[in-house]
Amino acid sequence: MYRVQDHPVLGPGEKKKEVTIYFDGKPLPAFEGESIAAALTASGVRMFRRTSRLQAPRKMFCGIGQCTDCMMQVDGIPNTRTCVTRVREGMVVETQYETGEFHG
Ligand code: FES
Repeated sequence: MYRVQDHPVLGPGEKKKEVTIYFDGKPLPAFEGESIAAALTASGVRMFRRTSRLQAPRKMFCGIGQCTDCMMQVDGIPNTRTCVTRVREGMVVETQYETGEFHG
């Protein structure tokens, strides 16, 4: 949806194997090797979590694992930094509210 398929300077993107991840129960396409945050952003997801004190919405900000704005529950594990975590086939990604709950 929001992917650059044919870059005007870099040329066509490399074809990668497509996998399916599940965001809040909905199947979304992703490409093997990309970060969860990249896959969600490409599918139009605009909120990854809400802060615990003000319930403010957050999504990817720094993209390098430093700010924690992208933290989500991944396969039941809260506080996963999705900008530095690669997708896997069948991965379950959930919006995180407050400090998250462990579902292990
Ligand atoms: S976007 Fe900053 S840690 Fe992921």
